[in-house]
Amino acid sequence: MSKKGEIQIKYSDETIEGPLREWFKEPGILRWFPAQEGKEIEDTIKMLCGFTRWKSALTAFVDDKPIGVGVLFLHAYKKIAHQCLFCLLVDPDYRNQGVGSHLLLNLMELAKKNFNIEVLYLEVFEGNPAISLYRRFGFKEVGYHPYWIKEADGKFRSKIVMEKVLN
Ligand SMILES: CC(C)(COP(=O)(O)OP(=O)(O)OC[C@H]1O[C@@H](n2cnc3c(N)ncnc32)[C@H](O)[C@@H]1OP(=O)(O)O)[C@@H](O)C(=O)NCCC(=O)NCCS
Repeated sequence: MSKKGEIQIKYSDETIEGPLREWFKEPGILRWFPAQEGKEIEDTIKMLCGFTRWKSALTAFVDDKPIGVGVLFLHAYKKIAHQCLFCLLVDPDYRNQGVGSHLLLNLMELAKKNFNIEVLYLEVFEGNPAISLYRRFGFKEVGYHPYWIKEADGKFRSKIVMEKVLN
């Protein structure tokens, strides 16, 4: 789709499954996702890969190596199809180099041009440094679920919902 320096963005295909499986092995990564263990991680990967058939998932590459993915979770119902949840995941070795930003820019363009999405939103767990990235792109906090996650030790963690109207 587009190029920025050495980062290339393409529609994701089923080959993204392997890299996703690797990225979900990062210690601590599950802090930012609802999945807790093996079967749930596999379900998450299958769910993310499922959107490749609609061409609503993008992969970032460097030298033909996949280094990140962004997925639009398209809604099937017409009344809510004008808005869309999305998710970003970047290879830990390539973070803080603009890959996530580049994916997000391309996702916003894809959402608007290919799917007539007017509002993009995201769900992010309390304490995720990604909140700073989303604020930088103009996403505003519109919702707060204080008891969203219940950890194994019984402690609750909150989820923040952020959204942006696409102009
Ligand atoms: C969130 C994420 C996709 C950002 O990708 P990235 O390539 O590092 O993003 P960029 O380099 O474009 O921007 C870096 C920004 O992300 C923030 N950030 C988020 N998570 C980070 C992390 N784990 N390590 C370093 N920086 C992180 C930085 O604070 C920085 O914000 P700023 O530019 O406003 O200062 C990536 O950190 C990631 O995959 N995190 C784990 C999965 C996750 O939490 N996904 C989001 C779920 S809502």
